[in-house]
Amino acid sequence: MCGIVCYVGQKQARPILLEGLKQLEYRGYDSAGLAIQQEDGIACYRAVGKIVELERKLNGVDINGNVGIAHTRWATHGEPSEANAHPHWDQDENVFVIHNGIIENFIVLKKKLEKHGITFRSETDTEVLAHLIGLNFNGSLNEAVRKTMSQVEGTFGLAVIHRNAPGEIVVARRGSPLIIGVGEDGHFAASDVSAMVRHTNKVVHLEENELATLTTEGFSISTAQAKPIERSTETVEWRAEDAELNGFPHFMLKEIYEQPETIKNAFRGRLEPGEGVPKLGGIMPVWDSLKECRHVVIVACGTSYYAGAVGRYVFERLTEIDVEVELASEFRYRKLNFPENTFIVALSQSGETADTLAAIREAKRKGARLLGMVNVVGSSISRETEAGVYNHAGPEIGVASTKIFTSQLTILTLLALLLGRHHNLSLTEGVEAIRAIQALPELMKDVLSQAHHIEAIAEKYHKCNNWLFLGRKYNYPIAMEGALKLKEISYIHAEGYPAGEMKHGPIALINPEMPTVAIIPKDDMYEKMFSNIQEIKSRKGPVIAVATKGDDDLREIVDDVIEIPKTLDFLNPILAVVPCQLLSYYCASLLNRDIDKPRNLAKSVTVE
Ligand code: F6R
Repeated sequence: MCGIVCYVGQKQARPILLEGLKQLEYRGYDSAGLAIQQEDGIACYRAVGKIVELERKLNGVDINGNVGIAHTRWATHGEPSEANAHPHWDQDENVFVIHNGIIENFIVLKKKLEKHGITFRSETDTEVLAHLIGLNFNGSLNEAVRKTMSQVEGTFGLAVIHRNAPGEIVVARRGSPLIIGVGEDGHFAASDVSAMVRHTNKVVHLEENELATLTTEGFSISTAQAKPIERSTETVEWRAEDAELNGFPHFMLKEIYEQPETIKNAFRGRLEPGEGVPKLGGIMPVWDSLKECRHVVIVACGTSYYAGAVGRYVFERLTEIDVEVELASEFRYRKLNFPENTFIVALSQSGETADTLAAIREAKRKGARLLGMVNVVGSSISRETEAGVYNHAGPEIGVASTKIFTSQLTILTLLALLLGRHHNLSLTEGVEAIRAIQALPELMKDVLSQAHHIEAIAEKYHKCNNWLFLGRKYNYPIAMEGALKLKEISYIHAEGYPAGEMKHGPIALINPEMPTVAIIPKDDMYEKMFSNIQEIKSRKGPVIAVATKGDDDLREIVDDVIEIPKTLDFLNPILAVVPCQLLSYYCASLLNRDIDKPRNLAKSVTVE
């Protein structure tokens, strides 16, 4: 959730760190800070608010140094304040630390340190790290960090500099990602490649319980038990331009418009149209077991969970497999008892969501096999699963997930189709499905072309304080996702409901001030959805229908229609979610919300 960026090299650290922080701002953003080694000590500055506040504070300040660490914070322990912002330092102001994660035994450690006469300046758990490293320092910063790692419980991605270890940064990881970047004139470390992708695309991932020392000339990695590790660099495919707005007012809108391309990227090179079979190279290591598997559990959080919920219906339609879909944060507390050869499919944009990671670790302990569907290459989930499929959708910067959702739906469909073709699905059905998948990017452009119409609908309803989203079967999760999008970026209260449940309670809420978004494509649920809409209209509730093109009967009874082109039933959700994304976007924009960085939210949720 918070972001780390560090640099040691021949250039001035300050501009590199500030620019890196701006790239990370989407991860967490209530305060920021940096510390830079100078000839006469360490300069440390912190500010509450966005990175511009830190920049403002640094205006006119002379900092000359080429070794530095920087951080954006999303508060967990202690309110957003300058005192709680990172870096934190020890009593003697020798050690400066930045940290992502949570030190679980911090209260015990804090009490012990206070007994030794140490005064705490913040309410954070991170400050204990600074004091411990300070006390453990005996000439080697790497040794001091290693010893501290053995004293703390919980999770960390951390970076440290010390006044008496010039030219060195030590970084360490347990449960929170840290990546080393190998540049031409120095080395970087960051919690997310986007912070350093302007300078290098050569990276080395730090694994669990490892630490590394970085200098201008090189880096050395070792385990917490001091065993040296040799690891070669990997090349990342993200480009600096991917993280630019390119004329769009917000990343969310840019990412909504990228969907025809990101869907194509999800199936590019993965289809054999003549055979009616997808090919997914990433799952080949487990293919022999996977093709025999009859039980799949999809685990995920938030929007990724709703993608999984659509995926369940698609698997049931195309394969012979029993599928469950579970919220990762609940799944790990269940009494897990899997039939033999059960596969867990973990869906995650970031690949770092703490609950999803914890869920797959628990499932592995109970004997399940693990597949990952992840966007961030080299992320923890991609490394801890046996095999998987990448989205290849480029960085998603807007906090509200959009393009990854439709990319996840596309990939889940490919996997279901591949398995279905090895079960009962005929060649004709396979070929038809592949043709329909290939057509999706153009159909998606058609939906996007209605943006102005959707904006006008948002104009009409954005002042309503309560909204309902309804759908059935494949589109029930789209109703849930539509409601989530609206609440998270516009702060309007919205509920997503399976339409059949309306008459069991929520119908009591219907009134002329409460719009309902009904997802009603022409599929096998159409008649039932139509009746539900009539029930709402007879209680004077306004209805915005997301419907198949040319549905004139429906037009007569609802207030507004957003059309989606005809496709196969199980592909409708990929198109139907786009009007919901745009509706939320325009409502939030009319309400002047901070769309890419909604309050209280962060892009990657690395705490449980
Ligand atoms: C909502 C949203 C979140 C994420 C959730 C899981 O727009 O973005 O609900 O979907 O935090 O994140 P990932 O997919 O990174 O595991």
